[in-house]
Amino acid sequence: MATLRTLPKAAALGLVAVAACSLFYTEIDSYPCPPAGTTLRYGNFGATFMDSHCQSCHGSQSIDRQGAPGEFIFDTVEQIQRHRARIFVRSAADNNSMPPGPDDPTAEERRQLAEWLACGAP
Ligand code: HEC
Repeated sequence: MATLRTLPKAAALGLVAVAACSLFYTEIDSYPCPPAGTTLRYGNFGATFMDSHCQSCHGSQSIDRQGAPGEFIFDTVEQIQRHRARIFVRSAADNNSMPPGPDDPTAEERRQLAEWLACGAP
């Protein structure tokens, strides 16, 4: 029966697709902090970035989280530092799976986010 023989192949292709997706994420470890460090700070960049692009769903005061997981709250710099590897993979540099909506940060904002997170989100 053709269906029984093609099913495993389709499943295998699906796995390959999933694996390929995660391969194309840029991880925080492959994006070094510049040797001279960064002038970006929570106060002059991080808070504004997270408030404008993430906190409508991820803030503790969000009135509609739209499914954003409860442990991923970005109200304080400490919370951002704790989750910085995951924030990087979703939103920094060429990673763009967050925010999910149409109002994306600019490429320059994502580059700044990458630098700030790579330097430890000071
Ligand atoms: C419109 C609502 C919304 C906005 C805005 C949003 N998120 Fe999310 N976020 C979600 C939802 C829903 C999930 C759970 C589904 C998923 O992981 O894709 C999630 C999950 C996450 C996770 C946890 C999953 C993981 O991969 O570890 C992180 C980290 C994250 N978002 C980061 C961000 C960042 C950073 C921003 C801003 C640049 C942002 N999100 C903006 C809705 C949102």
